[in-house]
Amino acid sequence: MSDVLDWSGAALEKLNTAPYEAAVGRMAEHLRQEVGAGRLPFLSMPYMNALKAQLQELSPLLKTFDHMLLLGIGGSALGARALQKAFFPQQDQPGHSGPCLWIADNVDAYALEANLAKLPPENTVVVTVSKSGGTIETVGQYFIAKEWMQEKLGDAWQEHMILVTDEKQGYLREEADRFGIPALPVPDNLGGRYSVLSAVGLIPAQFLGMDVCALFDGARDIAARLAAPDLDAGTLEAHPSFQLAVWGASLMDAGFDEMIFFSYIPLWACFGDWFAQLWAESLGKEGKGSQPIPAIGVTDQHSVNQMFLDGRRNKACLFLTCPNLPAGPKFPADLPEKFGYVAGKDFGELIQAEGLGTRMALSASGVPLVEIRLERDEPRQAGKLIALLGAATILTGWLMGINPLDQPAVELGKRLAKARLGADGLKEEKADLQAFLTADRDIREL
Ligand code: PA5
Repeated sequence: MSDVLDWSGAALEKLNTAPYEAAVGRMAEHLRQEVGAGRLPFLSMPYMNALKAQLQELSPLLKTFDHMLLLGIGGSALGARALQKAFFPQQDQPGHSGPCLWIADNVDAYALEANLAKLPPENTVVVTVSKSGGTIETVGQYFIAKEWMQEKLGDAWQEHMILVTDEKQGYLREEADRFGIPALPVPDNLGGRYSVLSAVGLIPAQFLGMDVCALFDGARDIAARLAAPDLDAGTLEAHPSFQLAVWGASLMDAGFDEMIFFSYIPLWACFGDWFAQLWAESLGKEGKGSQPIPAIGVTDQHSVNQMFLDGRRNKACLFLTCPNLPAGPKFPADLPEKFGYVAGKDFGELIQAEGLGTRMALSASGVPLVEIRLERDEPRQAGKLIALLGAATILTGWLMGINPLDQPAVELGKRLAKARLGADGLKEEKADLQAFLTADRDIREL
């Protein structure tokens, strides 16, 4: 069997999917229009060949470094981390001596100080990733890392920097032009959370030696059919991303307002964080959406699973498995009687049995569940997963009648923070801030 979705536990019979299924013709037309107008490079990937060539060209330079410090946040970091943890676990394991990727995706003074104190600048490349080129969390770290490189390496500092940003505009593009820093583009209309298969995720992947072409191949297995200029309703109706979108939208109507992403491929757990951003930023609009909940099999069986099984009956689940994970070492043949049921078995049998048990228990508890069962835990399958969930998210958003490609609500907090720091303008935010800070507060001793 190849990679499949198992719909047996999806509880379709309890959902009113008909209105969404009926929208398939309209959705196919919308897809054709958006792809045709170049607004969905996530699916059409017109940049792919150029990027492969750029990565090839960059490869000898990347090989000269032992460390990559990646500065980015949100969609500019989560995909890279998911790929790193899935395909380059060595860095978290004893005895590692190869390349190291450090992802700085927070405003964390401890972490930044530690990185700058301990990384050897002469063997380090700083990769700053920001599509807008203006995100303060990222650009702020860039300012500090740039000064660090300048102090340590003098005129050679630019040779230890790479930028990934908009092709034409933004502060980082200006920096690239001003100092001749190598800069790869984030293609137009490719928003952060949809950008892992661009330079955003693939420069770190290339640095770590991953099979970037296999990732692309997997993504194209899924996306090419959706990006075809002659896409018709029948093709879309049969496509797993549309079927997931119909399921996702009708689940929300039925009150299932939480979506668990349960990964029973332990090394792929960070795809849960990647999915959480994708689903939340894309679909949390106008009082609608469902809250994504990343969970790790089997670890979370001993943590949040109790709530999944017997808490509010508002949860659905995407359940990620791979029957061909490594067998691992064997349990000794001679074990105490009460553990005799594992004696002589492969360690890897445990996760498969526990995955099956949890899946059945979730279904028995009434959690609608679709299993994404991957034949292998390899880059090609990761590419498929990325394209499948990205496309499903976009289509879910369209079925819900919202725009899945923006995230307007997150701007207010950013503007208020800027106002707090004294940025120009922002009159209204400054007034709100003043009112907030001077209002009576209900403060109690801790
Ligand atoms: O998905 C998104 O668009 C966001 O999460 C962005 O990735 C995030 O805000 C970082 O933006 P930028 O890449 O412009 O620095």
